[in-house]
Amino acid sequence: DWNMPDYISEAVEKIRAQVGGDEVILGLSGGVDSSVAAALLHRAIGTQLTCVFVDNGLLRLNEAEQVMETFAQNLGVKVIHVDASAEFLHHLAGVTDPEQKRKIIGREFVEVFQRESAKLSQAKWLAQGTIYPDVIESAGGKNKKAHTIKSHHNVGGLPDTMHLKLLEPLRELFKDEVRELGVQLGLPPAMVYRHPFPGPGLGVRILGEVKKEYADLLRRADAIFMEELNATVDEAGKSWYAKTSQAFVVFLPVKSVGVMGDGRTYEWVVSLRAVQTQDFMTAHWAHLPYELLGRVSNRIINEVRGINRVVYDISGKPPATIEWE
Ligand code: XMP
Repeated sequence: DWNMPDYISEAVEKIRAQVGGDEVILGLSGGVDSSVAAALLHRAIGTQLTCVFVDNGLLRLNEAEQVMETFAQNLGVKVIHVDASAEFLHHLAGVTDPEQKRKIIGREFVEVFQRESAKLSQAKWLAQGTIYPDVIESAGGKNKKAHTIKSHHNVGGLPDTMHLKLLEPLRELFKDEVRELGVQLGLPPAMVYRHPFPGPGLGVRILGEVKKEYADLLRRADAIFMEELNATVDEAGKSWYAKTSQAFVVFLPVKSVGVMGDGRTYEWVVSLRAVQTQDFMTAHWAHLPYELLGRVSNRIINEVRGINRVVYDISGKPPATIEWE
């Protein structure tokens, strides 16, 4: 049987024994795994830990602020916030192919992360939020896409010119154990129970070429969808956010005609996507209530100037994938 307080004190002792007085670097993405790893390491070694948070310009609305608030302000973790959004968007200009976009985002991430960690010349360890399923996945090498991406997401694949030893404090844990640990360590439940967010972020939710204008519109539309999913709760108190495995908005670089007051509009289209799944290998589209869909559509069209049409994706996986790219 699993006892959380004992688990935490054992994990803390183990980390201290392993690291001694050395400095540790961790790439914080805002996702569950790296967040819990950061909280656990901070509990164990305090200011010997420095986190690097890279804003690639493809994050959700207010994400960087939330990460800084949770870790730097509330928990007192040392976090270096690197705003590399201009750099990422510059390298993505003119690129439309999804896999090409993934490669560029992954490569840029490694570059920015390396540049920042080179400044922390005392560091001896690179910490990662690798969890048990990642370990199995990499060993089997079956899911090639997930593996490639994880390596970017978790800052694997960093050239060994960095001469850092690998520290993986969550290596033996399953996802639900990681979540429980996160809550016990004082992370906000909303952060710990988040839907998964792909490493390339909005880069693969803006179809074709990625532009700042599109990312800004998408962020606002997506925030409205998340707000309504969280606010729409059943008799048992469970929200539609909790009842779906993953939900997000996709930006379609297509203009359609609309009317507004006396005038004609010619603006962008977005699609809502919400799925239910156990393993993300197959998925059903979520049967969201029409009232919820209607509210989200009205709010996006009224509040986000530049979008005049909202559609709902009712494709299962297979044959569609969860993401559009
Ligand atoms: P698909 O679209 O393949 O998505 O049905 C399955 C799950 O994988 C996530 N996904 C990614 N995660 N980097 C990631 O870290 C990626 O490039 C990537 N592509 C898809 C997707 O969000 C879903 O949870």
